Amino acid sequence: MGALDNQIVVFTGAGAGIGRSVVTRFVAEGARVVAVDISEGVVDVAAELGDAVVPVVANVATWSGNTTAAQTALDTWGKIDVFVGNAGITDGARGLEDITGEQLPKAFDELFGVNVLAPMLGVRACLDALVASRGSVILTGSFASTNAAGGGSLYTASKHAVHGLIRQFAYEFAPDVRVNGVAPGVAPTRLRGTESLDQAITDSVLDGTDRALPTKRSRRSLPTTVYSRCWHRAPSRPR
Ligand SMILES: NC(=O)c1ccc[n+]([C@@H]2O[C@H](COP(=O)([O-])OP(=O)(O)OC[C@H]3O[C@@H](n4cnc5c(N)ncnc54)[C@H](O)[C@@H]3O)[C@@H](O)[C@H]2O)c1
Repeated sequence: MGALDNQIVVFTGAGAGIGRSVVTRFVAEGARVVAVDISEGVVDVAAELGDAVVPVVANVATWSGNTTAAQTALDTWGKIDVFVGNAGITDGARGLEDITGEQLPKAFDELFGVNVLAPMLGVRACLDALVASRGSVILTGSFASTNAAGGGSLYTASKHAVHGLIRQFAYEFAPDVRVNGVAPGVAPTRLRGTESLDQAITDSVLDGTDRALPTKRSRRSLPTTVYSRCWHRAPSRPR
C-alpha cells in the first residue's frame, strides 16, 4: 500500500528534472498521473512508468493546454485529486542592466507566462474537479520566492508571485481544496532559459549557481525529494 493510492494527479513540467523525479516517486506511492510537458520527453516518462502515467504534450502557458490535461485525467480516471504546477523557466540570473528595454516586455511575457500564468490556468482548469474531490494544489516556488539572489529580477519576481498565488488560493479555496507550495533550493537540473533573452534550452541551472552557495558546490545527483521548505496549509475555516 502506498501513501498516494487512488490519488489522481495532474502534474506539469513532468518531462525532466524535479518533475520527472517527483512523478516517479508519486507513481511508486500508488498515484496515477497525467504528466504534462511542452517537451516530448514526457512521452518517455510515461513509457518508463507504464499505465499509471498518461502523457500530455502541451504548452501550459495556454488555456487549451491546461483544459486538455484536466480533461485527460477526467476521461481516463474520472476525477482529479491533486494539481501540481511545477513547470518553470529561468532568466539565468540575468541582471536588469543586461536586458535591453526592447527585450524586457517580451521576456516578461514569456517568463511570467510559464511561471505565473500557467499555474493559475492549471488550477482554474482543474478547480471544479478539485472541489468535488476535496483535493489539493501544490505549486513549485523557489528559494527565489522569498529571497533575492535566486535569479534575476524577472525570475525572482515571478517566484514571489507564485508565493502570492499559494497564499491567495489557500484563502479562496478553503476549506474545500488544500493549497501548499514547495521551495527548492538548488537542484542539478537543466532548467530552461528564456528564449527572448536568447538563452538556450540546454543552459544548466548549475551554471554560475555554485558560486553563490556558501559551500561553493551543490549536490550532483538529484534526490527524489528536493524540497527545502514548505508553506501554508489551507486554513480550516467553515464555509
Ligand atoms: N533546479 C533548481 O535548482 C530549482 C530551484 C528552485 C526552483 N525550481 C523550480 O522547479 C521547477 C522545475 O524546474 P527544474 O529545475 O526541474 O527544470 P527542468 O527544466 O528540468 O524541468 C521543467 C520542465 O518544465 C517544462 N516546461 C517549461 N516550459 C513549459 C511550458 N510552457 N509548458 C509545459 N512545460 C513546460 C520543461 O520542458 C521541463 O521539462 C520550476 O518551476 C523551477 O522554477 C528549480
